Amino acid sequence: MTLELVNLRVCVEDREVIKGVSLRVERGEVHVVVGPNGSGKSTLLSAIMGLRKVKVCGGSIIFEGRDITDMPSYERAKLGIALAHQNPPEIKGVRLLDVMNAMAKKYGCSDCTSLTKTLLVDSFLSRNLFVGFSGGEKKRAELFLLMLQNPELALLDEPDSGVDVESIGMLARAIESLRNRGTRIILVTHTGAIMEKLSRINKVHVLIDGRIVYSDSPDVVLPVIFKLGFKKGLEVLVGGV
Ligand SMILES: Nc1ncnc2c1ncn2[C@@H]1O[C@H](COP(=O)(O)OP(=O)(O)O)[C@@H](O)[C@H]1O
Ligand SMILES: [Mg+2]
Repeated sequence: MTLELVNLRVCVEDREVIKGVSLRVERGEVHVVVGPNGSGKSTLLSAIMGLRKVKVCGGSIIFEGRDITDMPSYERAKLGIALAHQNPPEIKGVRLLDVMNAMAKKYGCSDCTSLTKTLLVDSFLSRNLFVGFSGGEKKRAELFLLMLQNPELALLDEPDSGVDVESIGMLARAIESLRNRGTRIILVTHTGAIMEKLSRINKVHVLIDGRIVYSDSPDVVLPVIFKLGFKKGLEVLVGGV
Protein backbone atom coordinates (compact mmCIF):
# COMPACT_ATOMS: atom_id res chain seq x y z
CA MET A 1 0.00 0.00 0.00
CA THR A 2 2.34 2.70 -1.22
CA LEU A 3 2.91 5.66 -3.45
CA GLU A 4 6.16 5.38 -5.29
CA LEU A 5 7.81 7.94 -7.52
CA VAL A 6 10.52 6.42 -9.65
CA ASN A 7 13.03 8.87 -11.10
CA LEU A 8 10.14 11.19 -11.95
CA ARG A 9 10.75 14.00 -14.41
CA VAL A 10 8.11 16.64 -15.00
CA CYS A 11 8.02 19.25 -17.76
CA VAL A 12 6.10 22.52 -17.83
CA GLU A 13 5.91 24.28 -21.18
CA ASP A 14 8.79 22.09 -22.48
CA ARG A 15 11.05 22.98 -19.58
CA GLU A 16 12.10 20.22 -17.19
CA VAL A 17 11.07 21.44 -13.74
CA ILE A 18 11.30 18.16 -11.79
CA LYS A 19 14.56 16.47 -12.67
CA GLY A 20 14.40 12.92 -11.38
CA VAL A 21 12.62 12.55 -8.04
CA SER A 22 12.30 9.19 -6.30
CA LEU A 23 10.14 8.87 -3.22
CA ARG A 24 8.19 6.19 -1.36
CA VAL A 25 5.29 6.97 0.94
CA GLU A 26 3.63 4.19 2.94
CA ARG A 27 0.18 4.10 4.50
CA GLY A 28 -0.19 6.51 7.43
CA GLU A 29 3.10 8.25 6.70
CA VAL A 30 3.58 12.01 6.54
CA HIS A 31 6.28 13.29 4.21
CA VAL A 32 7.12 16.96 4.04
CA VAL A 33 8.71 18.64 1.04
CA VAL A 34 10.46 21.95 1.71
CA GLY A 35 12.26 24.15 -0.74
CA PRO A 36 12.65 27.71 -1.94
CA ASN A 37 10.13 29.41 -4.22
CA GLY A 38 10.20 28.04 -7.73
CA SER A 39 12.00 24.81 -6.81
CA GLY A 40 9.14 22.72 -8.24
CA LYS A 41 7.07 21.78 -5.17
CA SER A 42 3.67 22.58 -6.70
CA THR A 43 4.73 21.03 -10.01
CA LEU A 44 5.57 17.80 -8.20
CA LEU A 45 2.14 17.63 -6.53
CA SER A 46 0.39 18.55 -9.81
CA ALA A 47 2.16 15.65 -11.51
CA ILE A 48 1.10 13.17 -8.81
CA MET A 49 -2.49 14.42 -9.16
CA GLY A 50 -2.22 14.18 -12.96
CA LEU A 51 -3.12 17.80 -13.71
CA ARG A 52 -2.85 18.57 -17.39
CA LYS A 53 -0.83 21.75 -16.97
CA VAL A 54 2.23 19.61 -16.28
CA LYS A 55 3.58 16.68 -18.28
CA VAL A 56 5.53 13.69 -17.05
CA CYS A 57 8.59 13.53 -19.30
CA GLY A 58 10.35 10.62 -17.62
CA GLY A 59 10.08 8.05 -14.86
CA SER A 60 6.88 6.75 -13.32
CA ILE A 61 4.26 7.11 -10.59
CA ILE A 62 3.16 3.86 -8.96
CA PHE A 63 0.17 3.85 -6.62
CA GLU A 64 -0.70 0.69 -4.75
CA GLY A 65 1.24 -1.40 -7.23
CA ARG A 66 -0.39 0.18 -10.26
CA ASP A 67 1.36 2.42 -12.78
CA ILE A 68 -0.75 5.59 -12.88
CA THR A 69 1.75 7.76 -14.77
CA ASP A 70 -0.59 8.25 -17.74
CA MET A 71 -3.89 8.06 -15.88
CA PRO A 72 -6.17 11.15 -16.08
CA SER A 73 -6.70 13.09 -12.87
CA TYR A 74 -10.37 12.11 -12.43
CA GLU A 75 -9.34 8.44 -12.46
CA ARG A 76 -6.68 9.17 -9.86
CA ALA A 77 -9.31 10.92 -7.76
CA LYS A 78 -11.38 7.73 -7.90
CA LEU A 79 -8.37 5.82 -6.52
CA GLY A 80 -8.37 8.22 -3.57
CA ILE A 81 -5.76 10.78 -4.54
CA ALA A 82 -6.70 14.32 -3.57
CA LEU A 83 -4.96 17.69 -3.85
CA ALA A 84 -5.44 20.78 -1.70
CA HIS A 85 -4.28 23.64 -3.94
CA GLN A 86 -1.82 26.32 -2.96
CA ASN A 87 -4.15 28.97 -4.40
CA PRO A 88 -7.70 27.63 -4.77
CA PRO A 89 -9.69 29.50 -7.43
CA GLU A 90 -12.70 31.67 -6.50
CA ILE A 91 -15.92 30.12 -7.79
CA LYS A 92 -18.93 32.39 -7.95
CA GLY A 93 -22.40 30.87 -7.78
CA VAL A 94 -21.30 27.76 -5.87
CA ARG A 95 -21.45 27.79 -2.10
CA LEU A 96 -19.09 25.82 0.12
CA LEU A 97 -22.26 24.20 1.49
CA ASP A 98 -23.27 22.97 -2.00
CA VAL A 99 -19.90 21.30 -2.51
CA MET A 100 -20.02 19.83 0.99
CA ASN A 101 -23.47 18.34 0.32
CA ALA A 102 -22.38 16.92 -3.03
CA MET A 103 -19.32 15.34 -1.42
CA ALA A 104 -21.33 14.00 1.50
CA LYS A 105 -23.69 12.34 -0.97
CA LYS A 106 -20.83 10.75 -2.86
CA TYR A 107 -18.46 9.78 -0.06
CA GLY A 108 -20.72 9.70 2.99
CA CYS A 109 -19.95 12.10 5.75
CA SER A 110 -19.77 10.37 9.10
CA ASP A 111 -17.63 13.08 10.67
CA CYS A 112 -18.92 16.15 8.80
CA THR A 113 -20.08 17.89 11.95
CA SER A 114 -16.89 17.35 13.89
CA LEU A 115 -14.88 18.34 10.85
CA THR A 116 -16.73 21.64 10.43
CA LYS A 117 -15.88 22.29 14.08
CA THR A 118 -12.22 21.24 13.84
CA LEU A 119 -11.71 23.52 10.87
CA LEU A 120 -14.24 26.14 11.97
CA VAL A 121 -15.89 26.43 8.57
CA ASP A 122 -19.50 26.81 9.82
CA SER A 123 -19.42 30.57 9.53
CA PHE A 124 -18.66 30.60 5.82
CA LEU A 125 -20.50 27.49 4.64
CA SER A 126 -23.14 29.61 2.91
CA ARG A 127 -20.66 31.84 1.09
CA ASN A 128 -19.52 31.46 -2.51
CA LEU A 129 -16.53 29.16 -2.71
CA PHE A 130 -13.33 31.00 -1.79
CA VAL A 131 -14.79 34.38 -2.85
CA GLY A 132 -13.40 37.01 -0.49
CA PHE A 133 -12.15 34.33 1.93
CA SER A 134 -9.18 35.34 4.08
CA GLY A 135 -5.95 33.37 3.75
CA GLY A 136 -6.78 31.16 6.72
CA GLU A 137 -10.40 30.62 5.62
CA LYS A 138 -9.26 29.55 2.16
CA LYS A 139 -6.83 27.00 3.52
CA ARG A 140 -9.32 25.65 6.05
CA ALA A 141 -12.06 25.32 3.42
CA GLU A 142 -9.67 23.65 0.98
CA LEU A 143 -8.51 21.12 3.58
CA PHE A 144 -12.14 20.57 4.65
CA LEU A 145 -13.13 19.66 1.08
CA LEU A 146 -10.14 17.39 0.71
CA MET A 147 -10.97 15.58 3.95
CA LEU A 148 -14.58 15.04 2.88
CA GLN A 149 -13.20 12.92 0.05
CA ASN A 150 -11.67 10.57 2.60
CA PRO A 151 -8.51 10.28 0.51
CA GLU A 152 -5.96 7.47 0.49
CA LEU A 153 -3.29 9.96 -0.50
CA ALA A 154 -3.52 13.65 0.41
CA LEU A 155 -1.34 16.18 -1.38
CA LEU A 156 -1.27 19.40 0.62
CA ASP A 157 0.26 22.40 -1.10
CA GLU A 158 1.42 25.01 1.42
CA PRO A 159 -1.49 24.70 3.87
CA ASP A 160 0.36 27.16 6.14
CA SER A 161 1.03 30.00 3.69
CA GLY A 162 -0.68 33.29 4.46
CA VAL A 163 -2.38 31.78 7.49
CA ASP A 164 -2.75 33.20 11.01
CA VAL A 165 -1.50 31.28 14.06
CA GLU A 166 -4.98 30.07 15.15
CA SER A 167 -5.70 28.68 11.70
CA ILE A 168 -2.35 26.88 11.65
CA GLY A 169 -3.32 25.07 14.87
CA MET A 170 -6.69 24.06 13.38
CA LEU A 171 -5.10 22.89 10.13
CA ALA A 172 -2.49 20.87 12.03
CA ARG A 173 -5.17 19.12 14.13
CA ALA A 174 -7.12 18.24 11.00
CA ILE A 175 -3.99 16.92 9.27
CA GLU A 176 -3.23 14.75 12.32
CA SER A 177 -6.71 13.26 12.22
CA LEU A 178 -6.28 12.59 8.51
CA ARG A 179 -3.04 10.74 9.22
CA ASN A 180 -4.68 8.78 12.03
CA ARG A 181 -7.18 7.44 9.50
CA GLY A 182 -4.22 5.94 7.61
CA THR A 183 -4.10 8.50 4.80
CA ARG A 184 -0.66 8.99 3.29
CA ILE A 185 0.26 12.64 3.23
CA ILE A 186 2.69 14.66 1.18
CA LEU A 187 2.79 18.15 2.59
CA VAL A 188 4.58 20.96 0.84
CA THR A 189 5.63 23.97 2.84
CA HIS A 190 7.71 27.02 2.20
CA THR A 191 7.67 28.58 5.64
CA GLY A 192 7.68 25.36 7.67
CA ALA A 193 5.30 26.93 10.20
CA ILE A 194 2.94 23.96 10.30
CA MET A 195 5.65 21.46 11.03
CA GLU A 196 6.09 22.72 14.58
CA LYS A 197 2.49 21.71 15.26
CA LEU A 198 2.60 18.21 13.79
CA SER A 199 3.50 15.47 16.23
CA ARG A 200 4.85 12.95 13.76
CA ILE A 201 6.52 13.59 10.44
CA ASN A 202 8.22 10.58 8.94
CA LYS A 203 10.58 12.40 6.63
CA VAL A 204 11.49 15.85 5.38
CA HIS A 205 12.77 16.17 1.81
CA VAL A 206 14.61 19.26 0.64
CA LEU A 207 13.75 20.07 -2.97
CA ILE A 208 16.06 22.45 -4.78
CA ASP A 209 15.86 23.18 -8.49
CA GLY A 210 13.74 20.09 -9.17
CA ARG A 211 15.86 17.62 -7.25
CA ILE A 212 15.56 16.15 -3.77
CA VAL A 213 18.97 17.01 -2.47
CA TYR A 214 18.53 15.84 1.12
CA SER A 215 16.07 13.67 3.10
CA ASP A 216 16.06 12.95 6.80
CA SER A 217 13.94 13.15 9.94
CA PRO A 218 12.54 16.59 10.87
CA ASP A 219 14.73 16.76 14.00
CA VAL A 220 17.81 16.69 11.79
CA VAL A 221 16.67 18.86 8.88
CA LEU A 222 14.47 21.58 10.32
CA PRO A 223 16.65 23.32 12.89
CA VAL A 224 19.43 23.63 10.35
CA ILE A 225 17.37 24.67 7.32
CA PHE A 226 15.18 27.17 9.10
CA LYS A 227 18.05 28.67 11.04
CA LEU A 228 20.57 28.96 8.24
CA GLY A 229 18.37 29.03 5.13
CA PHE A 230 18.33 26.50 2.31
CA LYS A 231 21.76 27.17 0.83
CA LYS A 232 23.88 27.41 3.98
CA GLY A 233 21.75 24.83 5.81
CA LEU A 234 22.33 22.29 3.08
CA GLU A 235 26.06 22.82 3.15
CA VAL A 236 25.97 21.98 6.86
CA LEU A 237 23.70 18.94 6.39
CA VAL A 238 25.58 17.49 3.45
CA GLY A 239 28.94 18.30 4.96
CA GLY A 240 27.81 16.69 8.23
CA VAL A 241 29.29 19.58 10.23
N1 LIG B 1 2.30 27.30 -16.11
C1 LIG B 1 3.61 27.51 -16.10
N2 LIG B 1 4.26 28.02 -17.17
C2 LIG B 1 5.59 28.23 -17.15
N3 LIG B 1 6.38 27.95 -16.10
C3 LIG B 1 5.81 27.46 -15.00
C4 LIG B 1 4.39 27.23 -14.93
N4 LIG B 1 4.12 26.71 -13.70
C5 LIG B 1 5.30 26.66 -13.05
N5 LIG B 1 6.29 27.11 -13.82
C6 LIG B 1 7.72 27.23 -13.44
O1 LIG B 1 8.14 26.02 -12.85
C7 LIG B 1 9.04 26.28 -11.77
C8 LIG B 1 8.52 25.61 -10.52
O2 LIG B 1 7.30 26.21 -10.12
P1 LIG B 1 6.48 25.67 -8.87
O3 LIG B 1 6.32 24.20 -9.01
O4 LIG B 1 5.24 26.49 -8.78
O5 LIG B 1 7.48 25.99 -7.67
P2 LIG B 1 7.20 26.05 -6.10
O6 LIG B 1 5.84 25.47 -5.84
O7 LIG B 1 8.31 25.26 -5.48
O8 LIG B 1 7.30 27.49 -5.71
C9 LIG B 1 9.14 27.81 -11.66
O9 LIG B 1 10.30 28.23 -12.31
C10 LIG B 1 7.91 28.28 -12.37
O10 LIG B 1 8.11 29.56 -12.94
MG1 LIG C 1 4.16 26.23 -5.01
